[in-house]
Amino acid sequence: MLNVALPKGRLGEKAYDIMARAGYECPSLLEPNRKLTFENPATGVRYFWAKPSDVPIYVERGVADVGIAGKDILLEYEPEVYELLDLNIGKCRMCVAGPADFRDDPSRTLRVATKFPHIAKTYYSARGREISIIKLGGSIEIAPILGLSDVIVDIVETGSTLLENDLAPLREIFPISARFIANTASYKFQYAEIRDMVEKLAKLV
Ligand code: PRP
Repeated sequence: MLNVALPKGRLGEKAYDIMARAGYECPSLLEPNRKLTFENPATGVRYFWAKPSDVPIYVERGVADVGIAGKDILLEYEPEVYELLDLNIGKCRMCVAGPADFRDDPSRTLRVATKFPHIAKTYYSARGREISIIKLGGSIEIAPILGLSDVIVDIVETGSTLLENDLAPLREIFPISARFIANTASYKFQYAEIRDMVEKLAKLV
């Protein structure tokens, strides 16, 4: 039995869909309830729903053998896991965004609001730009609107959240997609099962 961590939320449905199409269905997972774990002995998988940013923690600690996580989460937390496959789903971009007419004034420290402080620091330090980070948990777009920050570093998918808040993407930092990841020990000891899963998924991407 392989334990699989799936990200709940907007990536979750696509993540389960590709697993099911690869032959790892688990019908009980689609029932409308608040259960968090589901297993299908016939296909040898036990799924559980995790907060997207927690998926690599479960996989790194080995309570999940494998999981699906966005490249954004992997670059922010740099977990010690194997990244085995780009699933080509959940595609979006990590961007610097702000008012469309924003002009950076290099004589001032740039105030950056984000859920991704490590990514933001790495991006600006590579450019020698001094910043102060305002770490928020969500609804990042509010920060420049209310004057809490000059810009944000955040995920842009359709761009509608920015547009509806009179903001615009200013720079793309990197493209994002969901990755299939594995625990390092599981990959060694359940190699055949995990490789089989990767190969079935690879045919669909
Ligand atoms: C993410 C991100 C943006 C939005 C972008 O937030 O932080 O706010 O999606 O998507 P769009 O370009 O399609 O509008 P999420 O919905 O995950 O919620 P959050 O604000 O709680 O982070």
